[in-house]
Amino acid sequence: MEIDKKEICNKIYNMAKKGKSFLEICKALELKDYEVIGLITVMHQEGYNIEFVQGEIVILKNPKQTEDVYEIPYNLEHLKLLLISDTHLGSKYDRLDILRYLYAKAEEKGIQHVLHSGDFTDGRSNRPEQVYELKEPSFEGQVNYCVDKYPTFNGKTYVIQGNHDNWWYKSAGSEIVKSIADKREDIVYLGPDVADLRIGKLKIRLFHGSGGCAYAKSYKLQKYLDSIPLAERPDILQTGHIHQSFYMKQDKTHCFQTSCLEDQTPYTRSLGLPNDKSVWWVDVGFDDKGNVHSITPELETFGKKLTKKR
Ligand SMILES: [Fe+2]
Repeated sequence: MEIDKKEICNKIYNMAKKGKSFLEICKALELKDYEVIGLITVMHQEGYNIEFVQGEIVILKNPKQTEDVYEIPYNLEHLKLLLISDTHLGSKYDRLDILRYLYAKAEEKGIQHVLHSGDFTDGRSNRPEQVYELKEPSFEGQVNYCVDKYPTFNGKTYVIQGNHDNWWYKSAGSEIVKSIADKREDIVYLGPDVADLRIGKLKIRLFHGSGGCAYAKSYKLQKYLDSIPLAERPDILQTGHIHQSFYMKQDKTHCFQTSCLEDQTPYTRSLGLPNDKSVWWVDVGFDDKGNVHSITPELETFGKKLTKKR
């Protein structure tokens, strides 16, 4: 957006946030109704939580969910995937070194699809002390940090937003992962919290989750799987948020709780949360009709030591 346009958009946004009506905004800014509608449309397309609906301006509190399935054609016998989560980029405790190592290894293995189950960024919490844990405390700062530093890749990374990313929606009015993906051809944003994708006939669901830790690390994953009607269950369910890895197979679904790629922060340390660092490498085999016949997981874990690029 050019500077002038951005300034007017900011004014529209702030007035709408304060509860001014559409007509009051047109009058105050001396703009025609179609000019204000046009600017709101542009803001909405750029990921802002503002929309023009039935003659009035709406500021949304949560990013909109879609039930669209992101389809990727695939017709080979084998598929290799890398499952990662909770990178919390922009935190002083993020682990770009592990990410660089992983993407170099993924290239070597011929992997084209990396799946990320949310908390791409560390966001900006309403917990005041979090600012001391951040390298980049602003929305723009975290966007630029991710766009510049996230490893580039010949394939694509498919990502949903987690609760930390969603904080920006309330404070900055925008979906941060969408803003990042708009600037990076190798990152595909699938939406907030949950998304379905298909690679050939392989059905995958990415889910982030919310709330505190359960008494057992597998509990939330099991409860979430139970909430999906049997006929709609995916072949792979990948979840984030818990920062601890766990795998189980129930009926036809291989469930991967993917931990994080962030060191323990002062906050997680004070709560006694471990921040396990690991990823899943997954091999999928298809039969000659393209149906899934095998899914084989392999866990790779990381410690505190810097991980060197191979
Ligand atoms: Fe997280």
